[in-house]
Formats: sequence, C-alpha cells, structure tokens
Amino acid sequence: MRTDYCGQITNKYTGQVVTARGWVKKYRDLGSLVFIDLGDLKGVVQVVFDDTVKKEILELAQTLRQEYVIEVTGNVRERESKNPNIATGDIEILASELKIINASKPLPLTLDGSASDEAALKYRYLDLRREKLRDNMILRSKVMHSMNEYYNNNEYIYVETPVLTRSTPEGARDYLVPSRVHGGEFYALPQSPQLSKQLLMGAGFDRYYQFAKCFRDEDLRGDRQPEFTQVDVELSFVNQNDIMNECEALLKKVIKDIKGIENLEFPVMEYDEAIERYGSDKPDIRFDMEFINLTEITKSSDFGVFANAAQVKALNVKGAAEKFSRKDIDKLQDLAKIYKAKGLAWMKVTDEGLAGPIAKFFDNEIGVNIQKAADAEVGDLLLFVADEKEVVAASLDALRRHLGQELGLINEDEFKFLWITNFPMFEWNEDDNRYYSTHHPFTHVNDEDVDAMINADATAPEIKGSALANVYSQAYDIVLNGYELGGGSLRVHEPALQAANLRALGISDEGAHEQFGFLLDALEYGFPPHGGYALGLDRFVMLLAKENNIREVIAFPKNAKAIDMMSNAPSPVDDKQLDELSIAVARKEEKND
Ligand code: AMO
Ligand code: AMP
Repeated sequence: MRTDYCGQITNKYTGQVVTARGWVKKYRDLGSLVFIDLGDLKGVVQVVFDDTVKKEILELAQTLRQEYVIEVTGNVRERESKNPNIATGDIEILASELKIINASKPLPLTLDGSASDEAALKYRYLDLRREKLRDNMILRSKVMHSMNEYYNNNEYIYVETPVLTRSTPEGARDYLVPSRVHGGEFYALPQSPQLSKQLLMGAGFDRYYQFAKCFRDEDLRGDRQPEFTQVDVELSFVNQNDIMNECEALLKKVIKDIKGIENLEFPVMEYDEAIERYGSDKPDIRFDMEFINLTEITKSSDFGVFANAAQVKALNVKGAAEKFSRKDIDKLQDLAKIYKAKGLAWMKVTDEGLAGPIAKFFDNEIGVNIQKAADAEVGDLLLFVADEKEVVAASLDALRRHLGQELGLINEDEFKFLWITNFPMFEWNEDDNRYYSTHHPFTHVNDEDVDAMINADATAPEIKGSALANVYSQAYDIVLNGYELGGGSLRVHEPALQAANLRALGISDEGAHEQFGFLLDALEYGFPPHGGYALGLDRFVMLLAKENNIREVIAFPKNAKAIDMMSNAPSPVDDKQLDELSIAVARKEEKND
C-alpha cells in the first residue's frame, strides 16, 4: 500500500521510509543512476535509483517510461539541488524497492499543453492528467461544494427535474429523443428546467436549487457547449430584489471560499443605459473607454457619413494617437466591418486640434465640441462609427473589447460583477422579421407595463416598432468580466397575464394549451408569486480558472462541431434500432471535423 501521496512527501518525511504509487512523469537514465519524477493527484516527487539498490532493481528502473504506473519504496533524504517551486522540492526518495504495476504505450500526445485540440480531445482521459486541467476539475468540484453549502444553509431544497421532457422555451433548437413506445413522437431534452422549477413553486417547495444539465442545439463558441450545467434556482413569495440579493449572497460566498476575495460590489445598470454606454448587455467594466454619443454634435457637420446617420458614436482610445499606424487602424476597421459597420472613421488629437483625413469636414466649433464630449486630450485617438444604432453598438463593442485586451487595460485578477436590469420584454429578430421574448414567455413585465401587455393583443409580433417594443420586464442578467454569467426573472403567476404573454408572441390559445397547457392549468390552482435565476456553472468556473473556453472546465466536452471526439458521438445506429423507433433516415452525412 502507498503510505502517502507523491505530492505530499515533503521534508518533514526526511529520514523515513515511504511507499508511493503513481505515474512516471519524467525519467532520466544516467547509467548507474536513474532519476524519475513520480506523480499522482497531489503532485510529483523525485525518486533516485543508484548503486545502493539491488542490480535487478536498477535494471528494472532503466526500463521505466513515461506514464508507467509503479510503486516505489525508499528512504526520504534531503536533495542536493533543491527545487523551490514544488512542495516536494527539498527532498527525494532514494529507492530500495520498485514494482511496475502497469506499463504504458508511448503517449499519442504531449502532456505539456502543446497537443493539438484534436489529439487532446480524442485522448481526453490522458489530457486530464495535465496539472492545469486537473486543477480546473478540482476547482469545479470545490465551487459546487461551496454552492451546496450555501443552499443547504439557506433552506433550499434540491430537486432533480426530468431530462426526458417536452420542448422548453429558451430559444435554441432542441435535442430530440425518439420514443420507441410511441412511434413518431419525441421527447425533448430540456434547454433548462424552466417550467419544472416553476411548477415546483406551484407545489409549494418555496426554495429550489439544482445543478441541472441543459441541452441546446446552437452554434458553439468558447462559452457555449451543447450540453452544459446550470446552477438553477427558483423562489416563492419574493420580488426582484430578493432574488438578486440571494444570487449575490451565493456569489459572494463562493468567491470568498475560492479566491479569498471579500467586499465585492454588484452595481446595477439598466439595459438601455448599458447599450448606450457600452453597446452591450454584458459590458466588461474592468476598464473604461465608454461610448461617446456624438449624433447631435455631428449632425451639422459637412461630413455626410456622419450628418445623415441615425447614430454617430466614438471611442476615445487614450494616448493611442502615436501607437496606431494607418495599417493598424485598417485592421480595426476590418474588425468593425465584421459587425456590419460600413467603415471606421478616425481622428487624432494634436496641439492644433483634430487631425486626420476627415478632420477638414468639421469646423472649429464642432471640433471643439467633439473633443469636449469625448474628454479628449492631445495624443488621444478617436474612432467613430456612424450607422443604425444596432450596428454602432455591435461594432464599437467589438472594438472596445479588442482594444481593452490589446492595450492591456484589463486587470486579469479582478472580478467585476454587474447586474443588468429592466430588459425589453421582446426583441426584434432580423432574420425572422418578428419579435421574440428577450428572456422567455414566462417573464413578468414591469408592474407599470401590465396593462399595456394585456392590451397588446392586437399587436402582432411581425410589426416592428409596435407596442411590444416599449414593454419592459422584470428580468435581469448577472455579468462577470464581460460574460453573461446568468440570468433570471420574476415570473408570471397570473393566468390572464400569462395568456397575454403568449398571445403577444403570436401563439394562439390552442397552441399555448398544446405546448404549455400543464403550466397554464397549474396557474389556475393558487400559484404563488415566484421568480428565480440560473447561472452558467461552466462559465463561472472558466472565469475563476482564468480560462477562455468552457471546454477547459468540463471533463468530457464536445468540439466546435458538437462531436465528442473520444467516443465519436454522435454515431450512426443500426437499422434494427431505427426500425424499433419508427425512424427512417433521409440523409446521411459523413462527420468530418
Ligand atoms: P439562460 O438561457 O439565460 O436562462 O441561461 C442561463 C445561463 O446558462 C448559461 N448558458 C450556457 N452555458 C454554456 N453553454 C451554453 N450553450 C449555454 N447557454 C446558456 C449562461 C446563461 O447566462 N431558464 C432561464 C433562467 C431563469 O430564468 O431562471 C435560462 O435558462 O451562463
Ligand atoms: P469615405 O467617405 O468612404 O472615403 O470614408 C471616409 C472615412 O470614413 C473612411 O475612414 C471610412 O472608413 C470612414 N467611414 C465610412 N463610412 C463610415 C461609417 N458609416 N461610420 C464610420 N466611418 C465611416
């Protein structure tokens, strides 16, 4: 048996005989001397085989290769050349016994983080032996533990909700599961336990939480996986502030437990203000560089692009006038164009005022007003986008984020939370030409908008700028360092208002009953006022681990094409299985990644 973890054999063991088991992380064979780094969950320890051991043991040590699993017994002694970077760096084990427990083939990838994504995901079980990934998984476990403690101490009840269920309304595509028993019918995997948790409130559970697996078939990005975990919460007899306070208390506890940071602030900003100042509902407020609205000032200028635009906004890149060449600015323009900007105008602030190719279009007064509005000083670079407000917001937001990174304006050790509140109830979708719920159809509008909502019957979702555009909701998002960490809302508990919500989305009463009948019925039986939130656990752990892809904090993630490279799922199934499920496959596609 092992007496200790490798990584815990420190100098207090000097002079003692220990037995350690683990993996050979490094080996150096110097003939009559063999050094290995033996590693396990807790770290590595150096082991030496020299001429004090039996010849056959030295010979056996010479056959060791990377990732062999071995058992070593020996005496702990002080090391000649110490390694202050590791806990075991003062000592080494002078081996007297060696057992090879299991050999390893040469590894198909390197374990220093330099392996290709493909190899790392295919051999995930090996890549997980990497210290950073292992630490990420341990961190994830600690975060969940800390959260469990919070919820346990505060009267929350853990309830598991079904995974084989009906389509839920979070707005992504569903993953479907065919029913064998009911040919041609399908379960949907939950995009979130939204309806289940509301029904638990109807059932009187008062405070619910769950680490819920959610499934969404959507385009993947660094912060999105097809299956991910939500910290899902719902509370009864609360208002919006109560819920936000509960969420804050949980986040404060976790950050204190994990990072030792206290006194975090949770400023609140309304959605419209966030869009005005940052062009985003998830602004990174670790740095400034807020938008400057110049629409009014530049209306009377001779620069047609500005004078005729719906909106003109600028960023003041402080002290950057000399840092950016024309070529650099062209690159920034390319970035802005990805977000549909038609161009990126710029001026530099010099001793003589504004300079650059478009400066001639602005007379002295306008020039001075621009400088004043932008709080611009000599040496600053101003970047402008003129367009519809959505384009201005998206392109300047992308530039702001990019510049924040590139100019090193972000303190990576900071955790800056921000609540975004007062979301519009509906948002226009350019592709489908209609309104959809910004949050979901069970969200409660602001109290002052209840009448407008109930009277919005005649308003079809297809009419842009209709009454739906002016209804705001009691929904909120919690943002951390520029990521949407979570969101929630106060829900509708009044049957008439719920019906109005669905009608406004163009869902007929019959359609509503077909899809959500069980919830609509439940509202008729004494339903308490309620609301809740869900945090993206993967995103939270990613930010705590200072990673920039949630893959790094998920044990067995999918690649960007939603493939599990290790098991090679999804995969074809045999005809018999399809027959049983009453399914005929119309189109087969080769998976290539
Ligand atoms: P929402 O859809 O905003 O709200 O999701 C809540 C949080 O879940 C995380 N998240 C994701 N994480 C990884 N991969 C994904 N594909 C993914 N999609 C979402 C985000 C997000 O903020 N039922 C509501 C919550 C509520 O109203 O209580 C909901 O699901 O961090
Ligand atoms: P042009 O008048 O097309 O030669 O453009 C003059 C400058 O204005 C160039 O730097 C363009 O990138 C920039 N520009 C053109 N259209 C816009 C716009 N909609 N918003 C901001 N800058 C623009």
